[in-house]
Amino acid sequence: MTLGTTDAPRANGGRPAPDFERFRGTSGYIASRALVDAVNCALALERPLLVKGEPGTGKTLLARHVAEGLGLPLDAWHIKSTSKAEDGLYVYDTVQRLNDARFGDGDVKDVRRYIRLGPLGRVFSAESRQVLLIDEIDKADLEFPNDILREIDEMRFTVLETGDEVVARERPMVIITSNNEKELPDAFLRRCVFHFIDFPDVEQMREIVAVHHPRVEQQLLEQVLVKFYWLRDQKELRKRPSTSELIDWIAALLRAGADATQLASEIPFMGALLKNEQDTRAIGSFLERGGKPPANFEALGTKRRH
Ligand SMILES: Nc1ncnc2c1ncn2[C@@H]1O[C@H](COP(=O)(O)OP(=O)(O)OP(=O)(O)O)[C@@H](O)[C@H]1O
Ligand SMILES: [Mg+2]
Repeated sequence: MTLGTTDAPRANGGRPAPDFERFRGTSGYIASRALVDAVNCALALERPLLVKGEPGTGKTLLARHVAEGLGLPLDAWHIKSTSKAEDGLYVYDTVQRLNDARFGDGDVKDVRRYIRLGPLGRVFSAESRQVLLIDEIDKADLEFPNDILREIDEMRFTVLETGDEVVARERPMVIITSNNEKELPDAFLRRCVFHFIDFPDVEQMREIVAVHHPRVEQQLLEQVLVKFYWLRDQKELRKRPSTSELIDWIAALLRAGADATQLASEIPFMGALLKNEQDTRAIGSFLERGGKPPANFEALGTKRRH
């Protein structure tokens, strides 16, 4: 993670204490100063970091880079609408036990053989400190965040079937992402450090693009960014393209050998950027009517760069 150049200066104007700044970033992820501070704040308080932001703004990727930056292993729990808090702790594999009983395979009396730890269980019982990503917590039902509160707070739980207690040896760094599909309960929020990833401005976006496409030619990059921010400005779009779509679009342009002049009157590979037919139709008909997207940032207007 490298720091974006557009970061506001720190409120105190000074540098943080070195033992506070445990996380300094990696070269593969561009983070604002505020995001790095939020990670270090969560580390110092030993609280989960809750990250929100538009889809494609690097919430999930952040966890990988925090783990890399801290030199710790990463475990992930990808939440689905059917996810239950208990699954994060452990599941009791009754089906396997039944099969073993039927086919006389192994010692079915030893219930411990059938306890499968979930992601929380695994990071608690790991020998060393881990980073745990709980991805898209808002996908689960409303009770889910409250249901995992106690275990995350206390860092311990009991396996009911065996009476064994699983206690975290080292408090994991927990990163939770949310796309804002549901409001999260206040009791849950109280226990987290919160950060909202703002959509990158042009300068920060140049740095993000450089991480993924270091050799993109300057004139092409300029045209790509002007067109991309212009598209994001179009009010009629139902789904504005995000960072990850921009990265894909550039990959497609590079592979096809596109050059800057081609982008003057058309937007090739629109399907990499716009993801529904109303949006592609709206932009397509604008271009067909002879409409021209702006050719540079001056024409786009400085106020409308985000
Ligand atoms: N700050 C960044 N630095 C480097 N790459 C980034 C950054 N932000 C986004 N990206 C690129 O965008 C892609 C999408 O990021 P990611 O999947 O983490 O987004 P997300 O916020 O989790 O999206 P969603 O809400 O849809 O899950 C990444 O794989 C990466 O290519
Ligand atoms: Mg994600």
